[in-house]
Amino acid sequence: MKAIILVGGEGLRLRPLTCNIPKPMVPVVNKPFLEHMLDNLRRHHIDDIILAICYLPERIQSHLHNGSGFGVNLTYAVEETPLGTGGAVKNAEPSLDDTFFVFNGDIFSDLNLSEMLAFHREHKAKASIALTPVEDPTAYGVVETDSDGNVKAFIEKPSRETVTSNFINAGIYILEPELLELIPPNVHHMVERGLFPQLVQQGIPFYGYRSNAYWIDIGVPDDYLKLHHDILMGKAIARFPGKSIADDIWREDGCEIHPSAKIIGPVVLGRDCIIGKDARISGPTVLGAGCAIGPGTSVDEAVLWQNVKLGADVTVRNSVLGNNSSIGDSTWISDGAILSDDTVVGSSNKLEHGIRLWPGSTIQDSSISF
Ligand code: GDD
Ligand code: MG
Repeated sequence: MKAIILVGGEGLRLRPLTCNIPKPMVPVVNKPFLEHMLDNLRRHHIDDIILAICYLPERIQSHLHNGSGFGVNLTYAVEETPLGTGGAVKNAEPSLDDTFFVFNGDIFSDLNLSEMLAFHREHKAKASIALTPVEDPTAYGVVETDSDGNVKAFIEKPSRETVTSNFINAGIYILEPELLELIPPNVHHMVERGLFPQLVQQGIPFYGYRSNAYWIDIGVPDDYLKLHHDILMGKAIARFPGKSIADDIWREDGCEIHPSAKIIGPVVLGRDCIIGKDARISGPTVLGAGCAIGPGTSVDEAVLWQNVKLGADVTVRNSVLGNNSSIGDSTWISDGAILSDDTVVGSSNKLEHGIRLWPGSTIQDSSISF
C-alpha cells in the first residue's frame, strides 16, 4: 500500500526548534519524529512511501535515504517552492496509480489505519478523512458529518463563533487517484481549502472516519512537550532507544550516574550521559546523547537534545533545550522555555514564561535576574 507524507512545511510555529532542522526530524524520545510515523505505517503494511519535501530536504534525505534501514521503501517528491498540501500530492501524481494514504507529517497517532482502509472500501468512498475530537477546534480543520459519516462541511481554521463540531481533520486521508484530476498542476493548492470543500459541494463520496485513538499534532512547543509526556507516561505507544534499567528508567550505553544522584522515572537517558553528584532527574524527562548534568542540578519534566551541558545547581523544568546548549551555574529555566541549538546561558539567570532563544544566542551571567 502506498502513502505520501507531507513534510514540506517550514514548521514556523515550532521555531526555534525548527531553525536548523525540519519539523519531521525533531527528536521525539531520542529518535527523529518521522521514524515514529514510519513505525506506525509499517505496522499496517504501508511500506511504499513518498515523502513530499521542500524545506531543508537534504536533512531528511541524508538520514532516511531509500528507507531500507527503516523497513520501508522511500522515494522523494521534491518541490522547488512550497506547493501546499494539495499541490504536493499533485506533484507526486506519476507515482500514485491506486488507492493511497496521505499523512500530514507532524501527526503522532496510533490510529488503526487498516480499519480506516476497510471503512473507506465499505463506503465506496472516493476520499476518507480521519477525524479526532479536540477541545479547541479553531486551530484545525473542522469537519461536519451526518450519522452515516458523509462529510457535510469542511471548514479550515474556523472562528470560534462558527465552530459546529469538535471533530477535526486528523491529517490522515485515503484518496482515490482519480481525485488528482481535481487538483490543478504546478500551483499552490491546499486540500483543506480547495479539494475538500469541492468534494462536499459536488457530492463526491467523501467520508469521515471517527477515531478516539491517541492523536497529537506536534506543531507547537507545548504539544511537542506533551507528546514526550504522553509517551513516557504510557498514554501514547512508541518505540525509542534505550534499555530498561529500573521501573520507568531507560538508558543507552556509556552513561555515568553518580551514586548520590536521584533519578525518578519516567526518564530516558541517551548514550554517554553524565549525571553529577546530588543531581536529580525526575520524569517525564528525556536526555539526549552526551548530556552532562552538573552537581546539585535538577531537571524535571524536560526534554534535552544532544550534548546539553548544565552547570552546578541549575534548575530546568518543563522546557526544551536544543543541541549543544550550555547553561551556567545556578541558572533557572522553566515554564515552557525553548532554547535552540548552541545557546550559551551564563550563570544566575532566570528564563521562564515561554522564552524562546534562537540558535547561537548568548546570555551573559546574571543578565536576566531573579
Ligand atoms: N510538501 C509540502 N508542501 N508539505 C506541506 C506544505 C507544502 O507546501 N505545506 C504544509 N505541508 C505539510 C507540513 O509539513 C505538515 O506536515 C502538514 O503539511 C500540515 O501542515 P501544518 O502547517 O502543520 O498545518 P496545520 O497543522 O496548521 O493544519 C493541518 O493539520 C491539522 C491537523 O493537525 C490541516 O490539515 C488541518 O485541517 C488539520 O486539522
Ligand atoms: Mg500541523
